[in-house]
Amino acid sequence: MTQGLTSDPNKESHPLLRLVDPGRVPAHVAIIMDGNGRWAGARGLPRIEGHRAGIEAVRRAISAAREIGVKYLTLYAFSVENWKRPRAEVRALFSLLQRFVVAESRTIMENRIRFRTIGRTADLPPKVQKLLHDLEDKSRGGTWTLTLALSYGGRSEIADACETLVRESLEGRRHGRVTEEDIARRLYAPDLPDPDLLIRTSGEYRISNFLLWQIAYAELVILDIFWPDFKEEHLYEAVLDYQRRERRYGGVPESHAKGYRRERPLEGPSR
Ligand code: FPP
Repeated sequence: MTQGLTSDPNKESHPLLRLVDPGRVPAHVAIIMDGNGRWAGARGLPRIEGHRAGIEAVRRAISAAREIGVKYLTLYAFSVENWKRPRAEVRALFSLLQRFVVAESRTIMENRIRFRTIGRTADLPPKVQKLLHDLEDKSRGGTWTLTLALSYGGRSEIADACETLVRESLEGRRHGRVTEEDIARRLYAPDLPDPDLLIRTSGEYRISNFLLWQIAYAELVILDIFWPDFKEEHLYEAVLDYQRRERRYGGVPESHAKGYRRERPLEGPSR
């Protein structure tokens, strides 16, 4: 069994975990894993070595997320734009992915992890698709969700949802105006809750076409480290940072609302 995806019951818990409010742990954390290439470059290694080291960081992220009480973890493993990379790098990434899935499938099943993918996975090599879909099927009963975004783009996801809506309308299976709910229900994994916390490594302040629809109200934490250097404590610190914030979803905090008479909120526009 591979180390990393499970938490060792004999291991002392990390001191940072004692500072975490268990009642306010983000249910869904999404991560943009950036900086594998630069990590390798800084060591005079080929880029693929950065991706290889990135897999170990993936294992640490999963283990830390499970330890702290996150219920859904979504990782940006391959974007629609990543197809523009040299063929050898793309091939190497899929080979690492295959090896990861094969190595971890037993641990995933034993730990009741539900494995999912989002993205235009039909574009992936058939052998990889089969491996992924088999594990998705087998792990369907899992209670903790790991989602890999593969051949994923936020804009293509929204375009795909719109295409489904248009088709349903043309076939007479739906009528009326399009609501936010209509689009949300046609995304790749409509039953996943929106991420509460989005983490990006490598210090860049960009979203890079990740979960554009779903991160409307996510809290962002940018870490100034390359992905292969990601350790469990980075996730714990990001969660502590999240817990210091006040999420308002476009409203005002209670303290600022003082001075106004309590009254029923205005209805606002109907759409
Ligand atoms: C970004 O680093 C990372 C990727 C494009 C791929 C992420 C893949 C992994 C962590 C390994 C495979 C993952 C799984 C889940 C098996 P970059 O190459 O863009 O780095 P750079 O910006 O420094 O060039």
